[in-house]
Amino acid sequence: MIGIIAAMKVEAEGLISEMKYKRTRVISGVEFTRGKLRGKDAVVCVCGVGKVRAAVCAEAMATNYKPDCIINTGVAGNLSKELGIGDIAIGKDAVQHDFDTTAFGDPRGGCFIDGKFETYFKCDRKLVKLVEKAAKAEGLRSVTGTVATGDCFVAGNDKKDEIRGYFPTAVCCEMEGGAIAVVSFINKIPFAIVRAISDSADGESPENFSGFLEQAAGNSIRVIMRVVEEL
Ligand code: ADE
Repeated sequence: MIGIIAAMKVEAEGLISEMKYKRTRVISGVEFTRGKLRGKDAVVCVCGVGKVRAAVCAEAMATNYKPDCIINTGVAGNLSKELGIGDIAIGKDAVQHDFDTTAFGDPRGGCFIDGKFETYFKCDRKLVKLVEKAAKAEGLRSVTGTVATGDCFVAGNDKKDEIRGYFPTAVCCEMEGGAIAVVSFINKIPFAIVRAISDSADGESPENFSGFLEQAAGNSIRVIMRVVEEL
């Protein structure tokens, strides 16, 4: 069973419309659509925006569908010099950039899980390779690095530089991947993050986000489809 989570409808509907033998069920306010995607058992859902909703959704998916992997698809703000609008940011790992216990001397983004301090939650290496291959096959430029997740839409160079300062390997910023990463880690489920760039996380990002959302979401879905075929 392949689990796929998107934050917004536009980031998932291209997948849901392709699914066959669909059955839906609402759990914790999230509609899960289960069926066959390119012949594979899959469950796809729209979790809503932000870390809390992403975590609730990932936990509900883990408990109720026992997926073999969880893939987060969608759009993101650009933090990489090598990417532009529509290009693909692939998670090597994910951090919660706004998790802050630095007052105790902890590194920014780090949190205790099961008595262990974790900052960078690693994506599954096999999945990462498949995603890289899929992006290439789709003719899309991609960069693999850290996905920086926080409960804010980044729309200014100060915030952007702050995140890049704390997390130099960050390639994009978004609002769900890091939460899904933590839940997948806790449940020992391999996970991946695929994000197409919708904006540059700068002063123009609100307009660019609105203008490029659909196109970027579609690019991420194209990559996901290829990954599903290969799984
Ligand atoms: N998702 C898409 N663009 C984003 C941005 N600039 N900040 C946070 N999440 C995003």
